[in-house]
Amino acid sequence: MKVINLKLKENSYNIYLGNNTVDKIPSYLHHSNIGNFCIIITNRKVFCLHKDKIKKITQNIPHKIIEVTDGERCKSKEWVFKIINELIKVDDIEKKVFIICVGGGTIGDLGGFVASIYKRGIPYIQVPTTLLGCVDASIGGKTAINLKEAKNIVGTFYQPKSVFVDLRFLDTLPFRELKQGFAEVIKYAVIKDRALFNFLEANYQRVKRLENKFISSVIEKCIRIKAQIVERDEKEKRGIRTILNFGHTLGHALEASLGYQKKLTHGEAVALGMVCASFISFSLGLCSKKEKERIEKLIELYSLPTKLSFSPQRVLRSLSLDKKFIGGIRIVLLERIGKTKVCKDVSLDLIKKSLRIIKKLG
Ligand code: GLY
Repeated sequence: MKVINLKLKENSYNIYLGNNTVDKIPSYLHHSNIGNFCIIITNRKVFCLHKDKIKKITQNIPHKIIEVTDGERCKSKEWVFKIINELIKVDDIEKKVFIICVGGGTIGDLGGFVASIYKRGIPYIQVPTTLLGCVDASIGGKTAINLKEAKNIVGTFYQPKSVFVDLRFLDTLPFRELKQGFAEVIKYAVIKDRALFNFLEANYQRVKRLENKFISSVIEKCIRIKAQIVERDEKEKRGIRTILNFGHTLGHALEASLGYQKKLTHGEAVALGMVCASFISFSLGLCSKKEKERIEKLIELYSLPTKLSFSPQRVLRSLSLDKKFIGGIRIVLLERIGKTKVCKDVSLDLIKKSLRIIKKLG
């Protein structure tokens, strides 16, 4: 098992990575003074697939399991208050309650948010079950819920006490879900790690097949990159954490323009957003044509889209509602693979051109 420490003074924590790391949770709970009553937040799908693992987590501790709605719909104010009501029911003078989030990014976002506001903060642990959760969402303490007006509009920065990344959860993931994680993995390589990029190119079949040595090393590299970025800019105040948004500005606009349908997953939208950002970087003379083409090729090697049928007008409308839009738009670009540059005023004209690049004809 690998242990990666994310250093944030009194909010520092360990990220445990390996096969069956979840089995270590009972002993961790016994030795830490995190609490004596555990609320597990998960959903039906995850619970049915991983009943045995969840039972192992809770074997020695009084607990209650809450199954929330599947997908983004659980990130609602209704679910926040349902969980708070459950917390109030079990809470008393003898109990020190804490939360364990077992699931994908949505469960981590919701559980972390509740943990951050109940009694002004109770401890929580992240147990991600998707690749996206393992490399990104479970690390760094961003929590949020959605309102009908916008995604992630209500949220906090609140760090977990620890993260258990158990590679065995990945075995049951459908390939489309896995691909969402690959999009974020490619993002890390492009923004920060040329060697990881070369590795992903050279070993794409083995990484896609989740061969243990390969996927484990890729996840470890991504976690280390994320941890270093969060350590330097925990609350996204210094413009450093911003680079994690590479591919996300246009990606979010694409998702929003399609009304967050199943037609396009977040990972697929990020892949398309990265194609646009690479094109813009090349057009501004920041990165070479060869680098841009390598990025597109890598996205294709991981079975992610580089073209889509969509309405550019709707994307532009979504973009104009983005808080980063003031005449031009602030966007994370590339100088080369492994080195980013945040540009504050990319012209609308160039954004339109980049959308033409990803538009599927016919
Ligand atoms: N997922 C982007 C961040 O944690 O900042």
